[in-house]
Amino acid sequence: MREDVADVKRVAVLVSGHGSNLQALMDAAADPSYGARVELVASDRPDAHGLERARAAGIPTAVVRPADFPDRAAFDEALAGLVAAARPDAVCLAGFMRILGPAFVRAFPGRIVNTHPSLLPAFRGAHAVRDALAYGVRVTGCTVHLVDEEVDHGPVLLQAAVAVRDGDDEASLHGRIKREEHRLLPAAVRLVALGRVRLDGRRAWLEGDQPAPPSDPPGRARPHPGGPQHARAGETTSGGVP
Ligand code: GRF
Repeated sequence: MREDVADVKRVAVLVSGHGSNLQALMDAAADPSYGARVELVASDRPDAHGLERARAAGIPTAVVRPADFPDRAAFDEALAGLVAAARPDAVCLAGFMRILGPAFVRAFPGRIVNTHPSLLPAFRGAHAVRDALAYGVRVTGCTVHLVDEEVDHGPVLLQAAVAVRDGDDEASLHGRIKREEHRLLPAAVRLVALGRVRLDGRRAWLEGDQPAPPSDPPGRARPHPGGPQHARAGETTSGGVP
């Protein structure tokens, strides 16, 4: 582990693939005003490109392969132990393609953040972009949310809408959705790490700065009714949805 830095919060990240969201997070955290830094990047896949991105940034990495454990619970426990050793204030799932069991979720209550490429609760699951295209929706987007014990289900922190264009395929639409994820995920992870999220049942209230609305909202943006403090999560970014 790297040396502690006074008042700087600690983030652990789990990745399975390309790692563009991890990159966005590391880039944001490089600014000292972010107030948190990535202390560990772990993956279930030794070939995850995200691990290379972490190494290039000088961040410790680890691989925990499910095949090395007798069952899912044992894998979860090992992963939770590894992540706990990094003493994270927030745990970020940045394209981590495995379902985490209760042992992991309960180890970091209210501190695990996931990004999902749809406007939840629509299109849960591993093929959200493909499913949204197949359904024929005109607007989809991304959801950054806290993780609970159900898949793609925990309290919403931030959302952004993305218009589906004629001629979009899964790759083009996912590319535009990822641009929004790259803005929202670092902002949400920061708020969780700094302890600036309050929950009222499923509703999350965020204290302080939040990301601006998406650059190309699909509809007319509504002004936010509240002040900068305790603005309702999601309204700033999903206000353009008709
Ligand atoms: C993101 O779209 C995320 O929502 C989904 O997987 C993708 C990961 O992309 N779960 P990357 O690995 O961060 O580029």
